[in-house]
Amino acid sequence: MNLPLSSLLLILCMSGFVQAGESATADPVAGQSKTVVCGACHGPDGNSLVPVFPNLAGQGERYLLKQLHEIRDGKRVVPEMTGLLVSLTERDLADIAAYYAGQKAKPVEADPDLAAQGEALFRGGKLEQGTPACIGCHSPNGAGIPGAGFPQLSGQHSAYIKKQLTAFRDGERTNDGETQVMRTIASKLSNGDIEALAAFIQGLE
Ligand code: HEC
Ligand code: HEC
Repeated sequence: MNLPLSSLLLILCMSGFVQAGESATADPVAGQSKTVVCGACHGPDGNSLVPVFPNLAGQGERYLLKQLHEIRDGKRVVPEMTGLLVSLTERDLADIAAYYAGQKAKPVEADPDLAAQGEALFRGGKLEQGTPACIGCHSPNGAGIPGAGFPQLSGQHSAYIKKQLTAFRDGERTNDGETQVMRTIASKLSNGDIEALAAFIQGLE
């Protein structure tokens, strides 16, 4: 599939991907008490110390809840989390998402040379190959568009970002919906592009 960005965005809107946040009643304080087991990998406040475990602090609530559902249901395969979510209720998942969304992400430093290459790609894409700029959906500072479920990327560990972009490119991560938005975009990225983007994203604040 090979669609220009404008039609990808249009399809995302039409497919109901873009809706208002749904968890007005979620309780972040209750959520914190439900994350004791998660903290071992993701850090107590969602700032993880191990680069292959993603930071969750400050991530959009809608995106977090979507991932929790999909990891629980096996639509996104995370072997490290097998069995951890099955006993949790909808309410628990919503509270947990609200807790992490309200935490503050701590900045992580990036390799400056690689990051400069990555910045050009992040902001400008590779138009000659039809790769759109990342900022259209993940915003210029990498904060994402929380209400639309477009994830925050800024300050995320480069090892994790690299793994996700490679997994989208190789069709191992497929939970980006019918539009295959991230699979389409990542299909055009070389290993070098992914390395540079991941370095830049890690240093974004
Ligand atoms: C043993 C380690 C481990 C534990 C414990 C764990 N996770 Fe994870 N989690 C992971 C790994 C590894 C990934 C990323 C997998 C990948 O590379 O795709 C992940 C991914 C996630 C993601 C997706 C993040 C993103 O940016 O897409 C969320 C949300 C999440 N975990 C929440 C939780 C919650 C909530 C708990 C506790 C109920 C928990 N995790 C417990 C290892 C763990
Ligand atoms: C048209 C919108 C759009 C554009 C442009 C876009 N993305 Fe995404 N991206 C998304 C959406 C939507 C998701 C969430 C998929 C899901 O729900 O699992 C996502 C997810 C991701 C993730 C996974 C985040 C996580 O925490 O696991 C990474 C990494 C990512 N994008 C990087 C990029 C990079 C790098 C670019 C530019 C080369 C880019 N994206 C361009 C829409 C976009």
